[in-house]
Amino acid sequence: ISQFISLNWTSCNISFYSDVSQVRVLVPGAGLGRLAWEIAHLGYSCQGNEWSFFMLFSSNFVLNRCDKENALTLYPWIHQFSNNKMSSDQTRPVSFPDVNPQSLPADSDFSMVAGDFQEVYSDPEMWDCVATCFFIDTAHNVLDYIETIWNILKPGGVWINLGPLLYHYENMANEFSIELSYEEIKAVILKYGFVLEFERESVPSTYTENDRSMLKYLYDCIFFIIRKPAEQLINGDQTPKDGQTEDSLQKRSST
Ligand SMILES: C[S@@+](CC[C@H](N)C(=O)[O-])C[C@H]1O[C@@H](n2cnc3c(N)ncnc32)[C@H](O)[C@@H]1O
Repeated sequence: ISQFISLNWTSCNISFYSDVSQVRVLVPGAGLGRLAWEIAHLGYSCQGNEWSFFMLFSSNFVLNRCDKENALTLYPWIHQFSNNKMSSDQTRPVSFPDVNPQSLPADSDFSMVAGDFQEVYSDPEMWDCVATCFFIDTAHNVLDYIETIWNILKPGGVWINLGPLLYHYENMANEFSIELSYEEIKAVILKYGFVLEFERESVPSTYTENDRSMLKYLYDCIFFIIRKPAEQLINGDQTPKDGQTEDSLQKRSST
């Protein structure tokens, strides 16, 4: 999440308004709400969306019940018996929250909404920005997410994404799942009519890491900023306009 904020936020030009508090940002799959909180902390109007009760209970507790830095303590690795270099690594405490969740400006517009992203967000052209962090691989069918994001973005709005493609429903019994490569996702995104403004295909990132463990996962994430064009062709025709071929779009991206 810190990478997400520091990597791109100032460069992604979503400020159509001089006052960023007018810019409406949606964070689907917000987890514990930290990214949405950080975006609100930057002054944007921000809504997180999450469907897991475990996440919602926890985010509600942190966001609405905690008001002091490092006031509480957890022992996250207490059940992790393997790959400890020192015995004390297993029993070491972690204090939270590392910021005071109540430190948002008094007039900030920050909310969390419970429910399935695709069910909750059906109203078209409501959002200036959709920010997805380790989210798009939670889809049964990532094409549905792309379609929903296209629909809910205002013309000229941007979709910022960081994450891997660890498809959550792959190999799950009785669950529908398609697993597209990033190459395939990108082709669909461009065919849809999105314009790729920035792309980095290799952003090393950890997730819920035990930094003292002898076993660590490092994701090699995709990061992109794409824009729904401000002017679209009529009758749902999303054929690229003159000169806006996939090749030309790819040339505009940065690696
Ligand atoms: C890998 S976590 C990422 C959480 C957070 N964005 C972060 O970076 O820490 C994916 C989150 O998406 C949520 N999620 C999965 N499918 C969802 C859906 N259809 N609607 C809303 N949230 C969903 C999961 O419950 C989970 O909290």
